[in-house]
Amino acid sequence: TEATDPEAQHMKDALECLIDSVEGESSHKAEHGREMQAFLRLFTSYIKRKRERSVLVWDRVQPISTDQIVPYDSLPASGNFNNLKKLAVLKVNGGLGTSMGMPGAKSALEVKNGVTFLDLTVRQVESLNIANHVDVPLILMTSFHTQDDTLRVIKKYADHQVHITTFNQSRYPRVYKENMLPCPKSSKDEHEKWYPPGHGDLYYSLAHSGVLDRLLQQGKQYLFVSNSDNLGATVDERILDHMIDTQTDFAMEVTDKTRADIQGGTLVNYDGHIRLLEMAQTPADHEEDSQSARSFKLFNTNNLWIDLHSLKRNMDKGGMDLDLIVREKAMDDGQAVIQLETAAGSAIKHFDNACGIHVPRSRFIPVKTCSDLLLLTSDIYALQNDRLVPNPDRMFTSIPVIKLGDHYRKIQEFQERFKQIPKIAELDHLTVSGDVHWGRNITLRGTVIVAASEGQRIDIPSGTTLENKLISGNLNL
Ligand code: UTP
Repeated sequence: TEATDPEAQHMKDALECLIDSVEGESSHKAEHGREMQAFLRLFTSYIKRKRERSVLVWDRVQPISTDQIVPYDSLPASGNFNNLKKLAVLKVNGGLGTSMGMPGAKSALEVKNGVTFLDLTVRQVESLNIANHVDVPLILMTSFHTQDDTLRVIKKYADHQVHITTFNQSRYPRVYKENMLPCPKSSKDEHEKWYPPGHGDLYYSLAHSGVLDRLLQQGKQYLFVSNSDNLGATVDERILDHMIDTQTDFAMEVTDKTRADIQGGTLVNYDGHIRLLEMAQTPADHEEDSQSARSFKLFNTNNLWIDLHSLKRNMDKGGMDLDLIVREKAMDDGQAVIQLETAAGSAIKHFDNACGIHVPRSRFIPVKTCSDLLLLTSDIYALQNDRLVPNPDRMFTSIPVIKLGDHYRKIQEFQERFKQIPKIAELDHLTVSGDVHWGRNITLRGTVIVAASEGQRIDIPSGTTLENKLISGNLNL
C-alpha cells in the first residue's frame, strides 16, 4: 500500500518535509523521524482499511467463554509480598480530557483539600512501598499537552519513598480530512496541529524512551497500567499474585457494564483468540449488538497487568499491530481533521496467556465529565489513607445520579458556577439545566431539579438547603 497508494505516498513526502524541518541536534531529527515512521504505518493501515472497507467479520465474533474471565472474588488472599518487588506502576497521563475542555492534565485537578489526582497516585504508591519495604516505581506517561502540569505536581515528591519516572508519548500530526495531508508544515508548528495518539502509544513510547529496558534491568517483571483519572485503580496484590502463579502475561480488568457505559470496549473471542472489541471496529449494522449491555456484559476498565518480558519480546519483533481508532475533530477555525489513535487494551491479542479479571465496579471510578467530578469531589466520597472510599458517615450506600447540563460541559464553566461543592450525602438525584449558579454551603437532599430557561440565570444563594425540590422559572425559595 505504501508504495502504490497515492494518498500514502503524498503523506510520506509531506512527512519527510516535516522531518527536514527539525533543527538542532541530529538525535532530535532521528527521533522525530522514527516517530513519523510509526505514524506513517498507522496512516497506511487507515488508508488500506478505507480502501478495502475491512472491518471485523461479525460472524467470527463470539462471546468470551467463562474460563477466560477470572472472577475477582475467586482469587485467594494475597500471601507473597515479595511479588511486589517485581512490580512497576504506570499511569497513562497524556490525554487532554477534551470532553471536559481541560487546558492541561486532568490529573492535576483537585480532588479534596488541595490534593490532586496525581498527588493521590503518588502517595498511594509511596504508602505501598513503606508498608511492604519495597521499591515499586511509579511511571507517568505524559504528552506535550500534560508534561508541564505533571512535572509541577510531582516536583514536591523528590525526597519521598517513591521513584517517579516520566516519559513523553509520541506527538503525531493531525490530518486534514479534505486532502489527507498533515496539518503541520514544520516540526515547530503550534500545538493545535498535533495530538497524542491515544494510550495504545504507551508500548512504543515506553520502549523507545528506554524505560522498558531500564525496568527489566531493575528486575521488574510486571507492569500495572491504568488511567490517571481512575481513582479506583490501586495496586491489587491478589491480581498480581494471580498473574505470577498462573504465568498470565496480559490481564485486563473488566467490570459490569451499565447502560451509561457505551465508551469502553469489551472482550470477545475472535477466531478463537481473546480480543478487545471497541465500538470503532464494529460494523455499522452491528453497533447496537455491541452496545447492548445484554450481549456483552463486561467492559474494559483500562486497568491492565502486563508481563514485561512478553512485552519486550513483542516490541523486539517490530512492535504490535493495534486496532485503529479514527477520531474526527475540528480545528479552531472549523476545518475538519482526523486523529488516528490506538487503545492500550487492544494489545491483548498479541499475548499468548491472556485473560480478563472480573473486578468490582469500585476499581473503576473515572472522571469523564464535570458531573463525575462533582460526585468525586463531594461528601459522597472520603479520603482514607490516600484512597478514595465511600464516605463511611453516609447512611446509604447508593451513589446519587447527577446530570449537569450543557452549561457545565467545560471545566471552566463548572468552576465558575460552583463556588463550592454542595453537600450531597443525602441526595438521590440532581438534574441541572441552563445557567444555574451555586453559592457556598449548600445542601441538597432527595431529588433536586433546577432548570433555568434560555436567557435566564438562576442563583442558588449561599446557605440554602434544597430537599425534593423542583426549581424552574422564577426562583422561589
Ligand atoms: P480517554 O481516552 O478517556 O481520554 O483517556 P481523555 O483524555 O480522558 O478524555 P477525552 O476523550 O479527551 O475527553 C483515558 C486515559 O488515557 C490517557 C488519559 O490521560 C487518561 O488517563 N491518555 C489518553 C493518554 O495517556 N494518551 C492519549 O493520547 C490519550
